[in-house]
Amino acid sequence: MKKFLLCLMVLCAVMVSVSWAKDVSDIVVGACIYKYDDTFMTGVRNAMIAEMEKQGGKLQVVNSQNKQTIQTDQVDAYITEEVDALIVNPVDRTASEPLMSKAKEADIPIIFVNREPYADVMNAYDRIWYVGAKAEESGTQSGELIAEYFKAHPEADKNHDGKIQYIMLRGEQGHQDAVLRTDYSIKAMKDAGFEIVELGSDTANWSKVQATDKMTAFISEHGVDNIEAVLANNDDMALGAIEALNAQGYNAGDPARYIPVVGVDATAPALEAMKNGAMLGTVLNDADNQGIASIKIAVVAAAGGEVNEETIGYKITDGKYIWIPYRKVTTENYQQFIK
Ligand code: BGC
Ligand code: CA
Repeated sequence: MKKFLLCLMVLCAVMVSVSWAKDVSDIVVGACIYKYDDTFMTGVRNAMIAEMEKQGGKLQVVNSQNKQTIQTDQVDAYITEEVDALIVNPVDRTASEPLMSKAKEADIPIIFVNREPYADVMNAYDRIWYVGAKAEESGTQSGELIAEYFKAHPEADKNHDGKIQYIMLRGEQGHQDAVLRTDYSIKAMKDAGFEIVELGSDTANWSKVQATDKMTAFISEHGVDNIEAVLANNDDMALGAIEALNAQGYNAGDPARYIPVVGVDATAPALEAMKNGAMLGTVLNDADNQGIASIKIAVVAAAGGEVNEETIGYKITDGKYIWIPYRKVTTENYQQFIK
């Protein structure tokens, strides 16, 4: 019996050392963020930092300054340094193949965040994961916000033609979130039974300043009274559009001068704008859970453990995709999203 117990103890010790070859305090994770002055990614970055502090490992983070060449050099430096795992928010998601190859060659686990590599890249390595959110969902939810508003407020159809005349402000070209949010928000308005007319659609690259410029141009082209709704692929651009509307005396408190504007992300300034009545709604893009999930995967993989739902606490699809759900943020529930 004693022998049996001893054997059991040895077996347990071996199993533990096999599944956790490295102690968390010895783990170093290298992360690259596509650029630091992105509101949403700043939320993800802060969540990563906080989670790693909690876990007790070391996290290095660098700013890729929106240049893929800089980011590639940063990944090279991390590999030379022999980090235990890489987290990459690519500058150009279509250029993530070389980053995957470098990680694979060095046998370092790599987690992509927010900008989804193509499937062939994801399938070419077994220690690769993607943490993000299904952009279709957020597109659908933001389109629904506008449709629900028009159902509750028939007067929002200002020219009484039974159609919604809208402006679309799109994110960066080629970003999966820009393409899918645009398509699915349009689909949701149609699915709700509305006829829609696109007065204008342009990219503002996720940027508030660019969105103000684009919206100002659309206002002078069409006249503010002819615009009935604004859909933006993210909150920064929605807030940029609101700034352009404010300059016309719109969305500044007078109910007769109001155009429903929706975004995506549920950033603090967007929730503030909802509170002030300047913005109709948004969709929570859960930065906290995207940051936490990335760190959890990195730590488990770096420690030599198996990455699964039990070890990271998030559902995994096809062995490598972690989809964090979106949530619709309305005038009724926005308060619960304020931190
Ligand atoms: C967010 C944007 C952000 C972009 C960065 C999107 O998911 O909604 O706010 O600028 O990711 O890649
Ligand atoms: Ca109309």
